[in-house]
Amino acid sequence: MNKEITRQERADALGGMGCKRKRVEDARFTQGKGNYVDDIKLPGMLFGDFVRSPYAHARIKSINTDRAMALDGVVAVLTADDLRPLGLHWMPTLAGDKQMVLADGKVLFQGQEVAYVVAKDRYIAADAVELVDVEYEELPVVVDPFEALKSDTVLREDLVAEDGSLPDGAHGPRKHHNHIFTWEVGEKDATEQVVSDAAVVAEETMYYHRTHPCPLETCGCVASMDKVNGKLTLYGTFQAPHAIRTVVSLISGIEEHNIRVVSPDIGGGFGNKVGAYPGYVCSVVASIVTGVPVKWIEDRMENLMTTAFARDYWMKGKIAATPEGKITGLWCHVTADHGGFDACADPTKFPAGFMNICTGSYDIPTAYLAVDGVYTNKAPGGVSYRCSFRVTEAVYFIERMIEVLAIELNMDAAELRRINFIKKDQFPYQSALGWEYDSGDYHTAWDKALKAVDYEGLRAEQAQRVEDFKAGKTRKLMGIGLTHFTEIVGAGPVKNCDILGLGMFDSCEIRIHPTGSAIARLGTISQGQGHATTFAQILATEIGLPADNITIEEGDTDTAPYGLGTYGSRSTPVAGAATAMAGRKIRAKAQMIAAYLLEVHDDDVEFDVDRFVVKGAPEKFKTMKEIAFAAYNQAIPGIEPGLEAVSYYDPPNMTYPFGAYICVMDIDVDTGVTDIRRFYALDDCGTRINPMIIEGQVHGGLTEALAVALGQEIAYDDMGNVKTGTLMDFFLPTAWEVPNYETDHTVTPSPHHPIGAKGVGESPHVGGVPCFSNAVNDAFRAFGLRHTHMPHDHWRIWKTANELGLHG
Ligand code: CDP
Repeated sequence: MNKEITRQERADALGGMGCKRKRVEDARFTQGKGNYVDDIKLPGMLFGDFVRSPYAHARIKSINTDRAMALDGVVAVLTADDLRPLGLHWMPTLAGDKQMVLADGKVLFQGQEVAYVVAKDRYIAADAVELVDVEYEELPVVVDPFEALKSDTVLREDLVAEDGSLPDGAHGPRKHHNHIFTWEVGEKDATEQVVSDAAVVAEETMYYHRTHPCPLETCGCVASMDKVNGKLTLYGTFQAPHAIRTVVSLISGIEEHNIRVVSPDIGGGFGNKVGAYPGYVCSVVASIVTGVPVKWIEDRMENLMTTAFARDYWMKGKIAATPEGKITGLWCHVTADHGGFDACADPTKFPAGFMNICTGSYDIPTAYLAVDGVYTNKAPGGVSYRCSFRVTEAVYFIERMIEVLAIELNMDAAELRRINFIKKDQFPYQSALGWEYDSGDYHTAWDKALKAVDYEGLRAEQAQRVEDFKAGKTRKLMGIGLTHFTEIVGAGPVKNCDILGLGMFDSCEIRIHPTGSAIARLGTISQGQGHATTFAQILATEIGLPADNITIEEGDTDTAPYGLGTYGSRSTPVAGAATAMAGRKIRAKAQMIAAYLLEVHDDDVEFDVDRFVVKGAPEKFKTMKEIAFAAYNQAIPGIEPGLEAVSYYDPPNMTYPFGAYICVMDIDVDTGVTDIRRFYALDDCGTRINPMIIEGQVHGGLTEALAVALGQEIAYDDMGNVKTGTLMDFFLPTAWEVPNYETDHTVTPSPHHPIGAKGVGESPHVGGVPCFSNAVNDAFRAFGLRHTHMPHDHWRIWKTANELGLHG
């Protein structure tokens, strides 16, 4: 008996948007069949390794490579002198600065690349590194950005003119030889007036410490120059393969069509793999010189000590309010420590990224932000570690300022947030610092979150705990961390956002095969986010072919359309939109083919899940599978054969996901040990493509937030030595430290995105850090604490308790 298949069953069979489709990538990952850069083995391949500076600031008197070259198996040792004739001893950074590829006369941070050894295997290369004799003359070290702005020590001699004057930097005039830029947004005078007139002003200075994205797979590449056909292939851990291709072409002079960049499987990026590193340049040069492939893979210490760090922002804030708690103005000054070179990965017009989202989820009429970038003797970087261009710093700043204001007003911090939220009917909302928030419903999310955790009950329990503590009945305090964050993800638009002049659009190209399966290629690259699973789901819904029959391919510049890559949660807002738009082009052509086959006018057929049906006669239809076949085997008047489409999508605006997080934490006052009893995370990322993947993203982002808030740090001593260069010292949480997360959601679609989706991958990190930190601070609020700096490791928490006199 033929059971009629329902419309819902047809939709389910597609595995389209909204279903918890299992990750197609996992079949190979769980069987150890991934293909990472270090898995690539090419015939005759050599290995590169760096000689690195033990000093944070030193002049290089001499480099002698004789002993290294004499070692059996060593093929070459490159120094800046070898790269100079090629013009490759310095390279441009993404922030408009330039950076030494190999030390040119001096070194500016510990671990800086001094020479590059090429040998037959990595062990010989490592031995040869020890045999390169470098004579250093130590120079005064500056690790404090405030000291740097007063110091006579010139870090970047290349940025001081012969007459001692300071040429402008990439972002305008510089105030001091160690100053990089000043970036100002908003109304300075008006904001200062509001602050001086306000009934209540809360002030605080907070340090968002230096940390590191620390992906499990470190950075690396294999460069392979084929001298016969003049083609360079560069495999690497690149989050933006096309941008790397263009950069390599610009700095090497090799025509772009002769460069193929391939990002194979990537073991996490989190911003660490966006920029270009000396290892890439040296490997390319070494392959050109030797004529054989050269591999370079960092070890863990090299990754932590020298590749792009994150944060290192000193943020000073003033927040003004009425006695009833209505915020009237926000003032913020940031001193941003960029290390030895400004290698931040931000769109060109935004030297401090999207720090100007720091008015957060609140309707703040007047605001001003100024950021001063500073050189110090630390590693370069300043990447968005699981966030969109400094949004994590911005959200941490405003969510801590709200807590401090609540203390000043002697008010409940949840209520203070509620009375200041941007209201649903104010969207699209123009912020005082220049953004247009697309959509939001903050009150609904907030109320849902507070209800889910029984907020009033928690506050009553906390008050009782304080009483019990004072009465000597317990040594544990209870903190309730609150955060309502607004993210800004999906850069472009092209008119506002470019990196090195490359507009931040993204792309998707689809080819439908005659039998009704397809391949789609995108300008993005997954690093664990499950793009092969979710982009196929978008297409399944858009073109009516099963997701299981759609291959998603990313990361090969010879085949993928040009795109700006994956970081800043831009894949769904930008490439996801390109995918939907390319799918709609396929559908438009399919409609004409269907109409021809059904012998009706184009306007008389309509799309229905997996087919085109004649309007009013649903029994007359052609499935997308039938239409695909017809596209290749029928001569249709006026229509070209084939079924392909490409879309380059320039987003009209960013998307603004948001969320409400609550953390309940117990703190042992005598040991400083934290116990996260509960973590509730409500995320709103608009239309949800795959709820299971979203949940995974939230778990991962929260875990990295826990790491940063509670211990993860790149710390330096006064000599510029990195104190946390191994995973023994750098906190990487494991299942042991991670609590059970409760996830929840609301859905407020983006009005300008073709499927209403916003990004999600970074939200939990952006919202999680202040939430954990607020919980720690809140635990001590009853004992007079206003603010204590992250990371809240056990020692620092113990110290806070001690300073508050809680140890008796
Ligand atoms: O750019 P990136 O891939 O890091 O971040 P994203 O755009 O936030 O997407 C991360 C993962 O979550 C992808 O697999 C998305 O397809 C998925 N996602 C989703 O299922 N629904 C959303 N509204 C947003 C993202």
